[in-house]
Amino acid sequence: DWDSGSIIEEQVARIREQVGTDRVICGLSGGVDSAVAAALVHEAVGDQLVCIFVDHGLLRQDEREQVEQDYVASTGVRLVTVDARERFMSALAGVTDPETKRKIIGREFIRAFEQAERDLALEAAEEGEPIRWLVQGTLYPDVVESGGGSGTANIKSHHNVGGLPDDLQFQLIEPLRALFKDEVRAIGRELGLPEAIVGRQPFPGPGLGIRIIGEVTEERLDILRRADAIARAELTAAGLDGEIWQCPVVLLADVRSVGVQGDGRTYGHPVVLRPVSSEDAMTADWTRVPYDVLARISNRITNEVAEINRVVLDVTSKPPGTIEWE
Ligand code: XMP
Repeated sequence: DWDSGSIIEEQVARIREQVGTDRVICGLSGGVDSAVAAALVHEAVGDQLVCIFVDHGLLRQDEREQVEQDYVASTGVRLVTVDARERFMSALAGVTDPETKRKIIGREFIRAFEQAERDLALEAAEEGEPIRWLVQGTLYPDVVESGGGSGTANIKSHHNVGGLPDDLQFQLIEPLRALFKDEVRAIGRELGLPEAIVGRQPFPGPGLGIRIIGEVTEERLDILRRADAIARAELTAAGLDGEIWQCPVVLLADVRSVGVQGDGRTYGHPVVLRPVSSEDAMTADWTRVPYDVLARISNRITNEVAEINRVVLDVTSKPPGTIEWE
């Protein structure tokens, strides 16, 4: 009895009533959730919404271009991109603890965002319309896992739920807060977003920062980005996008193992493939990806990414393993 059309109508009416003539901003992460949340709010208030895309340097290959070009073309939203790569890299220097990384990334994200907001606020003030609202693509599972839903313990601090600074001057609009991922996708399709965005694998707000086990550096990000792009391309080419919920590729940056390539001994890093099947990310099983597909991914990564000499497969369900490694 769930109907995406009526959810949209209901949310659009509610957002219009809440917001009135105020300005609204929304951070786009490149993922499905924020893309759909922003499209929904755009449907409600049009150009009162401005989207901000923070390039934190923890994005996957080509992700910035996909947001700046494809998403804007399909929705018509106003978009401002903030290049915050240096600021994130220096804030993350020397940090290895997963929760600390998440908190830093969450904090820096808000700061970068607020800076962009101040610029926009000047412009808005001239036109007499304050920016009062912030859209977030929080889903029901995010709420539950951050301890905001049914009283469960805080498993990981999701930067789109926890970690907001106390002096935040916006009120939140969270139109997806009661929804699961498949429902969000249905809404995105109903709103006419392209399949490339709607069908996209979930990607965590902290990005590749929590897929490098160890310190996050530019060099390590570059290695992981190349390996991740290969894995995604091969899984898509094998027609597995429908079966796989997401497949994090995790760089074990502080682990080295001995390998051999050509005549030479190598001492490189392993990457972990973490393909999972899931309905809502609250539980998951590891996906039985065909051996020949795994072999192709492994061969390509070890041939094309010189720093990686070993590809391993994570065969743990959730629970006990979370989907991400950090
Ligand atoms: P875990 O690792 O907790 O992940 O099993 C569950 C789902 O949530 C995604 N994830 C996040 N999404 N901000 C997000 O927006 C975050 O901080 C975050 N951490 C994990 C993860 O990719 C998976 O889909």
